[in-house]
Amino acid sequence: MKYRILAIETSCDETAAAVYQTERGVCSNVLFSQIELHRQYGGVVPEIASRSHIEKIPYIVSEALTDAQVTLDDIDVIAVTNRPGLPGSLLVGISYAKALAYAKSKKLVAVNHIEGHIFSSFLEATPPFPHLCLTASGGHTSLYLVEDFGCYQEIGTTADDAAGEAFDKVAKLMDLGYPGGPRIEQLASEVGFQDFYRYPRLKKKDLQFSFSGLKTAVLYDLVNKGAYDLTKKKFLAGDNKRLHQEVASSFLVCMGDILVDRLQRAYSAYPAVKAVTFVGGVACNRYLADRVAQWTQSARCLCIIPPRKFCTDNAAMVAFVGHYRAQQGLFEDLTLDIW
Ligand code: KG4
Ligand code: ZN
Repeated sequence: MKYRILAIETSCDETAAAVYQTERGVCSNVLFSQIELHRQYGGVVPEIASRSHIEKIPYIVSEALTDAQVTLDDIDVIAVTNRPGLPGSLLVGISYAKALAYAKSKKLVAVNHIEGHIFSSFLEATPPFPHLCLTASGGHTSLYLVEDFGCYQEIGTTADDAAGEAFDKVAKLMDLGYPGGPRIEQLASEVGFQDFYRYPRLKKKDLQFSFSGLKTAVLYDLVNKGAYDLTKKKFLAGDNKRLHQEVASSFLVCMGDILVDRLQRAYSAYPAVKAVTFVGGVACNRYLADRVAQWTQSARCLCIIPPRKFCTDNAAMVAFVGHYRAQQGLFEDLTLDIW
């Protein structure tokens, strides 16, 4: 069946909508990022996120339709993220999607946000099955064995923080602002991505991740250097640019070693895989993307990393998953809820 899908994504701090058509692929991809609203709090404030989604969603959906040169009447299916995410934010998206589906008699498809990230690599490429997918974002970090559309299994995940969360927490320690990833990457690039402090790499034999130890190692390194007051929870070296650069760079290199190590292990454990994909907000990091690409080259394995606009949260990935779920006949009724 051919479908024209309108997708809605409001799981965290981006209000996003996209239109996807069987013959044309992504026809539009529109997004409002709430980063500026949350920056002063050093992280996403759920209440502010929900209110902003309510304010923006009608305009974002209408812009996505206009950009795709279609109207709501041309849409066959509404796809919406219903899990996982901030409950208040998810509710705005699914309530809006359900209202549209009811008022305009459209079919409704529910999409798992993580599945959206996993299949974001298909928006501009065609990864062969089976492949390994490393998903690293602010809320999740996992390795998946991807065998077909909608058919994937988690083979490793984080025992504590997500990779993006570790970037954000380390940046917060040094008052670098939110989100931390881009600032840490910038500082590390200024000193050539060198490993100054050799933060500990967790010696694990399985495919699990753990990043809270790395964050704690950075914290105690700053304390030992007299750059952080533990009792007042205060960074004391705001004017020491070199320290910022060295810590950021050492942290980033350590993160690169951990991610490549787990990919290597997974590749040995599943020798049938034909490709590796690296997705999620953390895959925007050029250094990490290069490390993953270099390793895949040495392993003679195909590497696919989506463009940045599809790595961070977006509705195009929700539309892609919504499209194959519609083709699989996986529709919902109006009792659809968030999980
Ligand atoms: O996928 P995403 O947009 O939202 C979630 O689903 O969480 O990922 C956001 C995360 C944030 O933690 C942010 O710090 C991280 O991705 N991030 C980066 C970079 N750009 C964004 N991490 C490392 N380097 C970057 N350049
Ligand atoms: Zn995400």
